[in-house]
Amino acid sequence: MPAAERSRQRPILIAVDGPAASGKGTIARELARHFGLPHLDTGMLYRAVALTMFRFGGDPGSEFEAVRACDGVAQVDPSDAELRSEAVGSIASRISAYPGVRAALLDRQRHFAAQAWGAVLDGRDIGTVIAPDATVKLFVTASPEVRAQRRVRELLERGMPAHLEDVLVDIRARDARDSGREAAPLALAEDAELLDTSEMDIDQAIAAAIALAEEKLAGH
Ligand code: CDP
Repeated sequence: MPAAERSRQRPILIAVDGPAASGKGTIARELARHFGLPHLDTGMLYRAVALTMFRFGGDPGSEFEAVRACDGVAQVDPSDAELRSEAVGSIASRISAYPGVRAALLDRQRHFAAQAWGAVLDGRDIGTVIAPDATVKLFVTASPEVRAQRRVRELLERGMPAHLEDVLVDIRARDARDSGREAAPLALAEDAELLDTSEMDIDQAIAAAIALAEEKLAGH
């Protein structure tokens, strides 16, 4: 039975994890479209906390202040261009290491994942912490160099300044922080499918992700 039809009978929960600029956001969005499911980019929650601190003050070095900023998440406009800036991404990467921040954002994510038809969530710890019982788990990655090139292209397209060397340094630092932190580190869940997109363009990566998900659902 095609997976899209199955979705009407049983919820389909898809977890997409991976490092910065791996393409996981686009892949998750397209999976959501393909299966007719709602999609949550969980990185935006951490970015919303970061933007609140960036705008209204707050020391990213203080867990207490970062947790307090979590109260402002609902007030952030999701279309605010600054959410996507490197400055905000960098603060997001720092404050997301705090267990208090992760705890404050947990219910919102679990609630989204519990919708009747299912959902697609992308982030760092979806398959490991937020939705360990997800039907499909994908871990999307690519080499740091390829990811840096993609991020530069994306930033330039948005009219934001970007230099390859700086972005590469930032991506490596972000990788080290995301993978090395104690609270919910970026890690490949043992039942996740690895999708390395280094040699793929985005259309190939989307097609590969849909194929992996369909395959997993067929055997479910
Ligand atoms: O697009 P990019 O990967 O650069 O960033 P993002 O997915 O928007 O996430 C921003 C930051 O939030 C990342 O550097 C992660 O440290 C953090 N994050 C997290 O810790 N857990 C998640 N589920 C999602 C994002």
